[in-house]
Amino acid sequence: MESDTQKWLRQYSEKVLKQVGITKNRNVLDFGCGSGYYTIPASQIVGNKGKVYALDKDRKYLSEVAKSAQSRKLKNIQTISTLGELKIPLEDESVNVVLLYDVIHSYYFSSTTRKELLREIYRVSKHNALISVYPRHMELQDAQDIIENANFTFESKLFKTLLHDSSLVQDYLLNFRKK
Ligand SMILES: C[S@@+](CC[C@H](N)C(=O)[O-])C[C@H]1O[C@@H](n2cnc3c(N)ncnc32)[C@H](O)[C@@H]1O
Repeated sequence: MESDTQKWLRQYSEKVLKQVGITKNRNVLDFGCGSGYYTIPASQIVGNKGKVYALDKDRKYLSEVAKSAQSRKLKNIQTISTLGELKIPLEDESVNVVLLYDVIHSYYFSSTTRKELLREIYRVSKHNALISVYPRHMELQDAQDIIENANFTFESKLFKTLLHDSSLVQDYLLNFRKK
């Protein structure tokens, strides 16, 4: 029988990312994509003329993403394997959407390295790009302040059922724009 998690992935994950604001033909960077809970639905939304860059420092996760993409015949996902360095191997102003889901908290980033990462996110984002943040393990207001201090404009707060560490949770997402 299908688990709640599988059902969320099959039935709701695309809906959630559409409500976040991802649309057809966009270029998306999923920074710290993990096993691809959000990479796969993003890829399905943006379609053949869009692209999803799935970046992670963990090769095991990236091979899971590649496997999931292959089994679903998704050809618009490009995995980017890094060593955790903060320089993102993408051109200036090359993406319309950046997902920072459960990744910018203090387990992975000090305040200094987080600032450096956000400067890189700013560099690779196009004008008016959507920066969507799942501030898991952070105070919402702290997360909002941090992203606003990196020159992004707060747009909206959404309360959604999300997949986190193999479990469904009800939690907030924060959306910002590069102005
Ligand atoms: C908790 S997981 C979240 C995965 C996914 N975004 C999600 O919400 O399901 C965080 C991921 O970020 C990756 N990560 C952390 N710091 C990173 C860095 N500096 N560069 C690339 N990936 C990083 C980790 O390897 C891990 O896969």
